[in-house]
Amino acid sequence: NPNYLKMEGSSGLQQVSCRAKGGAPGFKVAILGAAGGIGQPLAMLMKMNPLVSVLHLYDVVNSPGVTADISHMDTGAVVRCFLGQSQLEDALIGMDLVIIPAGVPRKPGMTRDDLFNINAGIVKTLCEGITKCCPNAIVNLISNPVNSTVPIAAEVFKKAGTYDPKRLLGVTMLVVVRANTFVAEVMGLDPREVEVPVVGGHAGVTILPLLSQRESSLLISYNLSTPIQVKPPCSFTPEETDYLTSRIQNGGTEVVEDFLYLFLSCSLLGSAWLYLQRIRISKSWGGIGNTINALDSHIKIPQAYAAVKFADACLRGLRGDASVIQCAFVASQVTELPFFASKVRLGRTGIDEIYPLGPLNEYERVGLEKAKKELAESIQKGVSFIKK
Ligand code: LMR
Repeated sequence: NPNYLKMEGSSGLQQVSCRAKGGAPGFKVAILGAAGGIGQPLAMLMKMNPLVSVLHLYDVVNSPGVTADISHMDTGAVVRCFLGQSQLEDALIGMDLVIIPAGVPRKPGMTRDDLFNINAGIVKTLCEGITKCCPNAIVNLISNPVNSTVPIAAEVFKKAGTYDPKRLLGVTMLVVVRANTFVAEVMGLDPREVEVPVVGGHAGVTILPLLSQRESSLLISYNLSTPIQVKPPCSFTPEETDYLTSRIQNGGTEVVEDFLYLFLSCSLLGSAWLYLQRIRISKSWGGIGNTINALDSHIKIPQAYAAVKFADACLRGLRGDASVIQCAFVASQVTELPFFASKVRLGRTGIDEIYPLGPLNEYERVGLEKAKKELAESIQKGVSFIKK
């Protein structure tokens, strides 16, 4: 009976069959990579989302613990655990939205592209599961390098004959979140009032904030206003533009580098303490090794926050809400490249509309050319990985 969900207490003290909530309105969502540094806070925030009725948490390790923990939250979504590749297909059957943060994060000194060799294969396997079990689901791809993993997913779907470009979205929301925050800081605004369009891609120079675009009364009076605008309308000095563009492009690297200092200082303090406790020094060096490994699983809260903000927009679009607009890395004809991050309107079947770039100033035109050059290579790398 699908209305019954077997709940097994890990203590073994309590093993009962509980009536799962039947027919609760909402969408079925799977998180692939739910026990990782993004996956755990993402699972918590999706469990709090009232649009979600069923939440499947899949990972190759540790998903039972994470699921048990999350399932204790007194929110509506029913949570189910899936562990290991043999359970991937069960995790995916019937899903409306699949969110993929799976894979390894970068360590200090690495670019997102350095993750390609490991994450490309992981994304391929997960997308093969999607083609078999939920080919009509909306896919939110977070695993880096997004500029290559989205083309990989597209090629896997094409190969299986299930590709619908309207349903595949690379999540670039985190750079928008950062852009809103940094602009608010510089202008002395409340970040909740700020909206900055960020186009291009999700790595270094491919991240292109369009700081020059703002609502003008002329455009409004001619009804030519587009959603590609900085809100509230503000203008920046050349120095502010330079500072903001660079900070938005390098926000991810800033976080990765800062975490090294945090972990190393904790580790060195911990090692010193072990030494004072007359524990063999070799153990304290082991502590440092563990610290480096810990960088793999450090909890990435803003990425989860951004992913949930984006997933919620996709679910509101699926529900039929009007004017749900966000930036995402999608198949596009906005430039000559096959994929490009743009503002998109989300609807019942995924992307309903992709907005053109709008007017750019000289600074942005130069940035766009740099972005396109790097993007073209990253996209081709992803495509070749599957075609080879
Ligand atoms: C980010 O922007 O924080 C993520 O893409 C992770 C990373 O490696 O930068």
